[in-house]
Amino acid sequence: MNIDTALYRRIEAAEQLEVLRFWNDIDEAGQRKLAAQLAAINWEEIPGLIRDYVLQRPKTEIPDDLAPAKYFPDRAVDAESADLYRRAVAAGENALRQGRVCCLTVAGGQGTRLGFDGPKGTYPIGPVSGRSLFAYFAGSILRAGQKYGRPISWYIMTSLLNCDATIEFFRRNDFFGLAPEQVFFFTQGTMPAIGYDGKLLLGARDSLALSPDGHGGTLLALRKSGALERMEQEKTDIISYFQVDNPLVKMCDPRFIGLHDLERSDMSAIMLAKTGPFEKLGNFCVSGGRLHIIEYSDLPEVLAQKRNADGSLAFVAGSPAIHMISRRFVSELTADGVLKLPWHRADKKIPTVDAQGNPVKPETPNGVKLESFIFDALPLAKRTMILEGDRKEVFAPTKNATGVDSAESCRQMLVDRDARRLEAAGVSVPRRGDGSVDAKIEISPALVLDDEDAKAYVKTHRVTRIEPGTEICLD
Ligand code: UTP
Repeated sequence: MNIDTALYRRIEAAEQLEVLRFWNDIDEAGQRKLAAQLAAINWEEIPGLIRDYVLQRPKTEIPDDLAPAKYFPDRAVDAESADLYRRAVAAGENALRQGRVCCLTVAGGQGTRLGFDGPKGTYPIGPVSGRSLFAYFAGSILRAGQKYGRPISWYIMTSLLNCDATIEFFRRNDFFGLAPEQVFFFTQGTMPAIGYDGKLLLGARDSLALSPDGHGGTLLALRKSGALERMEQEKTDIISYFQVDNPLVKMCDPRFIGLHDLERSDMSAIMLAKTGPFEKLGNFCVSGGRLHIIEYSDLPEVLAQKRNADGSLAFVAGSPAIHMISRRFVSELTADGVLKLPWHRADKKIPTVDAQGNPVKPETPNGVKLESFIFDALPLAKRTMILEGDRKEVFAPTKNATGVDSAESCRQMLVDRDARRLEAAGVSVPRRGDGSVDAKIEISPALVLDDEDAKAYVKTHRVTRIEPGTEICLD
């Protein structure tokens, strides 16, 4: 088959005809596949992207008026804030009861650091049961729906690379007790990877090397997939956004939902107090009256190290990527069917083919992937709100197989959280001399959403103590 002439001309104008170098060697099915990938590319923007992001390192402009962003502290500081927090909890519970809240998990990433074969959400994270990341979220969403008397819709963003496997996993697990129609899968866009020579990389003779376009792609994908429309029909107007690798997240936290609502915020965020000036979290900053997240690698060292009079970090607010987003805001941003968020460059080892079309797995980075980030929508929001979170209660990222932010550290945080819950409910939990929990404990998220549930659980099941060294899964 011949390639469409208009498409050919566009590829030629972008100086990328090399993508067709195996065209005459591949079968018709392969030609169709490649042609479809090529037709989906905005060729007119490719030369500019290569010039600005590949052939040179993009310079991030750091505004000179950067100031630390204000936030609501985790604990009320006076009677006025205590009253506000009480009202926020009530408002959040109301929103949940009225069915105004839905959940959104971004699960389109490739999870390369974890090195796990399969969608990251299927990773067995349960410290005792080995239940998956998806099972954790599903359990909490199920329980929250029961608690507030309204099933909560769950939107899951996948990418073309993992969408079939994700859906299949849900089917195999009977949607973890959720009604299948409660779960809406949608797929984000892709971007072609570009070699350091400024040429688009082929992943195979009949395929570009495509990768998901970053979690910033969520917003447009919500519109294009019909998810926004569905939310409108369901009358959900608050989207609880979280990442697939944080099973500790409280996606239905009434106080966070309520503050977002009371503040009439477009996009809200949880912040964590950074453990040090250079902790690898994005920094909440204000510039020109707008909220920005400046990546840890871009925050000038003097600002990162700047201290307040009491010795605390001036730029203390780090982002764990937990947001409440108003549906109206997403709707307005994507009204024209386009959303131009800035691109970010990531240097990666991208599997490709050699001159003969044989597969090559590079040992060192050989090109660039371009991604957009959800937090770049923050400066577009007129109203924002930041609430401090308690790290040990809300953030256990599973990025790596071992070490910092790993499956290992995440499992430990889950055990610690469940141990605290049991203790708060009056159960005796064995602790070693250094205070660490001397048992492996896991509580089913479908049974216990919060401390109140934990109390009810231990009462009905008559749990009074956990023996040292035991492995126990309260299901
Ligand atoms: P990360 O930045 O940790 O990327 O994504 P990743 O792809 O999961 O892992 P690495 O970097 O390859 O090791 C943070 C969150 O954003 C989602 C991920 O699934 C994760 O929940 N994400 C990331 C997407 O949904 N789409 C993307 O294009 C990128």
